Amino acid sequence: MNQFTGINDTFVLHNGVTIPCVGYGTYKVAPEVAKVSVAAAIKTGYRHIDTAAYYRNEAGVGAAIRESGLPRESFFVTSKVWNTDRGYDQTKSAFDASLQALGMDYLDLYLIHWPANYLQYGKDAKALNAETWRALEDLYHEGKVRAIGLSNFMPHHIEALMETARIKPMVDQIELHPGWLQRGTLRYCADNGIVAEAWSPLGRNAVLEDPNLISIASRLGKSVAQLCIRWVIQHGALPLPKSVHPDRIAANTQVFDFILSDEDMASIDSLVNLGGQCARPDDVLF
Ligand code: A2P
Repeated sequence: MNQFTGINDTFVLHNGVTIPCVGYGTYKVAPEVAKVSVAAAIKTGYRHIDTAAYYRNEAGVGAAIRESGLPRESFFVTSKVWNTDRGYDQTKSAFDASLQALGMDYLDLYLIHWPANYLQYGKDAKALNAETWRALEDLYHEGKVRAIGLSNFMPHHIEALMETARIKPMVDQIELHPGWLQRGTLRYCADNGIVAEAWSPLGRNAVLEDPNLISIASRLGKSVAQLCIRWVIQHGALPLPKSVHPDRIAANTQVFDFILSDEDMASIDSLVNLGGQCARPDDVLF
């Protein structure tokens, strides 16, 4: 288990770049509130902010970081290329658009948001992912981004990508919360030196209201949200909790003063198909 003591302790990516072990997630943080929410996260101590072109809140994220008065280098900022921008040239343009929206001259991490899947692209899916990845590799070689990775890629998508990749992905960001433990992908990432990040670590209401989780959390004197974040950390992954409420943003960082026992971990692991989207990347139609 990682011996982290606070949200800005770091994982080391396979290229030596360090990444804070908890990030502030911004999916569903509306564009008009992003600046205020990210400012609250920064005030709480977050230095790792996760956004995406698809979230349409990059401008607010960038403004909050600029207006924090802290140097750009003290932050770790991630964005992602959306599905409609796959392909070499489109991805490079999408990256420039993200930089412009953020008002930054480099990113810390850039991800392919979802793999092109067979259902939508048939046998062209593999080549499309390869071309998108080639663009990320070139952005990395050009020094415009400090690390590159994937999101929602399962082991078979990564294996297919590695047939032509020059750089092994540093990160894979997957849906991960009690009720959706992607054990196979977690194991693959651990075995291959890829840091797994967790989107939707709180699993939304179905998880937050689960009686089993409420019972464990109350016994430990923690909230279910804190339990979920701790569970992700003890699975060796990097949680990206989202909230727009300053009290919750702060509470979600208080996850280093307790440890889940093996029994509690097993009990939480046994929850299935609960909360979040439980999205299967090979089945999505977006
Ligand atoms: P809000 O932003 O209103 O706080 P996900 O895991 O998919 O990112 O879901 C996060 C959801 O959980 C959001 O709806 C968020 O709503 C809510 N949330 C975030 N932190 C907490 C918390 N500490 N307690 C309860 N709900 C939370």
